[in-house]
Amino acid sequence: MNIDGQPYRTIFPDPDGVSVQVIDQTRLPFAFELKRLATLDEAAVAIRTMIVRGAPLIGVTAAYGLALAMRADASHDGIDRAVATLAATRPTAVNLRWALDRVAANLRQVAPDERFDRAFAEAGRIAEEDVASCRAIGAHGGRIIADLHKAKGGAKGGDKPVTVLTHCNAGWLATVDWGTALAPVYAAHEQGVPVHVLVDETRPRSQGAALTAFELHGHGVPHTVIADNAGGHLMQHGQVDLCIVGSDRTTARGDVCNKIGTYLKALAAHDTGVPFYAALPFSTIDWTLQDGVTEIPIEERDGREVTHMTGRLADGGFATIEVVSPGSPVANPAFDVTPARLVTGIITERGVCDASAEGLYGLYPERRKAA
Ligand code: MRU
Repeated sequence: MNIDGQPYRTIFPDPDGVSVQVIDQTRLPFAFELKRLATLDEAAVAIRTMIVRGAPLIGVTAAYGLALAMRADASHDGIDRAVATLAATRPTAVNLRWALDRVAANLRQVAPDERFDRAFAEAGRIAEEDVASCRAIGAHGGRIIADLHKAKGGAKGGDKPVTVLTHCNAGWLATVDWGTALAPVYAAHEQGVPVHVLVDETRPRSQGAALTAFELHGHGVPHTVIADNAGGHLMQHGQVDLCIVGSDRTTARGDVCNKIGTYLKALAAHDTGVPFYAALPFSTIDWTLQDGVTEIPIEERDGREVTHMTGRLADGGFATIEVVSPGSPVANPAFDVTPARLVTGIITERGVCDASAEGLYGLYPERRKAA
């Protein structure tokens, strides 16, 4: 997608052929910087410190990280060590494990001296597939937005925009390109369907305020940043047509795990009759899990993310300030689970389905055989 009119992806091979470049998301929205990852450790640090983040992008970065590890140690033990290092970076997004398993299985089929090339090429394929999946999610979800626009009267109804509330950043910055929850928004926008995005700021790390707002602005999509607690009120007053969120892990029964606070938005949407969709590629579905609330591991992050905030000062400098009463204990669970009963539908690259085992196996019948 575009930054200042120039198309970018979040991760791409460096021209040197032995490393990758990523957009450093810890520097956004105030500075746009690329970072080169050339080793296993650099890839692991990039994921752990959220230089790259978002479930699909974490998966692709881990795949490249495994490839980079092969330059230093392409033995079987080297594969195991690299997989263990990368798998330990972040626990909730299943795309990470999925991508590592896929690349590792590939690597074991070839001799050590072929492993770097093999893994680098496989990571590239995963990245391309992610782009294709997100584009297809955009096409399917874009139709939901276009239908809502028609229901609002279309051009005859004064061309009122469809208002979409989203949480965290499930846009192109969270994937390789296009995004999941925002892909339908971009598709609708490109087709001329008027759309307006309500962006939850998403404390504590403010991915909505910092990243979603940045990318929507960069692409010229009308949007308004709202405080995390505003969504319920706006839904009660008819100011939200639908919610679309991403997912870090989705169970076989359609429970959806996403950034902390998503569940509260789903409850409000349910209470007010606002459709609530989760948009996700197949790599986010964990077919081994049924009950998301009890089975999905929830990442607990550093309390400093709650007690401190970093921002830009009037003079252009940056500062980190304390915002919590000193000495108070804090907790920082990073994700929550929205049970399938609160989800209107799941938008995938294969189409839209009910948030249920029937719905998901209907779209992925080959998984039913494997289950
Ligand atoms: O902690 P983050 O920023 O990696 O969390 C990201 C999210 O929760 C996204 O909504 C999710 O990964 C879906 S991404 C397309």
